[in-house]
Amino acid sequence: MRTPLVIGNWKMHGTLVEARALAAGLRDGLKRPRGVQVVVCPPFTSLAAVSEILTGGPIQLGAQTCHHEAAGAHTGEISIPMLAEVGCRWTLVGHSERRKEMGESDQLINLKLRALLAQGLTPVLCVGETAEERRQGLTFTTVEGQLRAGLAGVGTDEIAKTVLAYEPVWAIGTGVNASPTQAAEVQGYLRGLLSELASKETAQTVRILYGGSVKAENAEVLLAEPEVDGALVGGASLNAQSFIGIVRKAARIGTAAKE
Ligand code: PGA
Repeated sequence: MRTPLVIGNWKMHGTLVEARALAAGLRDGLKRPRGVQVVVCPPFTSLAAVSEILTGGPIQLGAQTCHHEAAGAHTGEISIPMLAEVGCRWTLVGHSERRKEMGESDQLINLKLRALLAQGLTPVLCVGETAEERRQGLTFTTVEGQLRAGLAGVGTDEIAKTVLAYEPVWAIGTGVNASPTQAAEVQGYLRGLLSELASKETAQTVRILYGGSVKAENAEVLLAEPEVDGALVGGASLNAQSFIGIVRKAARIGTAAKE
C-alpha cells in the first residue's frame, strides 16, 4: 500500500513573517494527520524558521532545489548538507519552472537526484509535458525522456526511495488541472517504465504524485484515482486552510484504502 503524500511547494512566496504564520497555521491545523504524509517546501530563507516551528510534529520539511556538490565556489547556490542541517529530508528536482527559467537540463537534474539519494534525502523528481507537446502527441515521449534521464545510473534500491511527480506544464498555476483520467493515464505509463527501470515490485511501491492546479475542490477526484498517490501543490499550499483541506481529502482516501 502506498501512503498518500501531499507536498506544498511555496515557490518564491512569503517573507519570513508570512512563512512563520503559515507554518504555525499548518502545525496547529494538522496535529495528527492519519493515513497521509505531509511535506512543505518553503523558500531557502525561511527553512530554518519553519523547521523550528514544525520540529516534533508530523509535517516534514523539504527544499525546492539544491546544488549537487557538497560545497564549493558556486555563488548563490545551496548544498544538500546545508539543507539537511536545517532539517530538510526532501527536495524537489526538475520542477518545470527550473527547467524553463534556469535552463536546468535532464543531466543536471540527474546529478542532483543522485546526490540527494547519496546523502539520504528523498528526491521528488518532477516531469511533465507542455501544452504544445501534448497537442503534438508527444506527452508520453516527453515524460519518458525526462524519467529515463532523471533516473540514469540509479539502481533499483535507490529508485525505491524516490518519489515522482507528474506535473503537466499547462496545468501549473493556470487553474486548469489535468482530468483524473489524463493524470492516471500518464502516471500509469510512468509506473510501467519504473517496472522496466527497476522491478515490478519496486514500481508498485514508488509514489507518483500529481501536480498542477490542485485545490481542495478538485483534490478528491484526482486522489481517488488509484495511480495518483498524492499531490504536489503550489498556489493552494500558500493558504493554511486550503492546504489542510487537500491533506484531509488525501488522508480520507489513504485511511479508507487501508481498511
Ligand atoms: P500549482 O503549482 O498548484 O500552483 O499549479 C504546482 C507546482 O508547480 O508544483
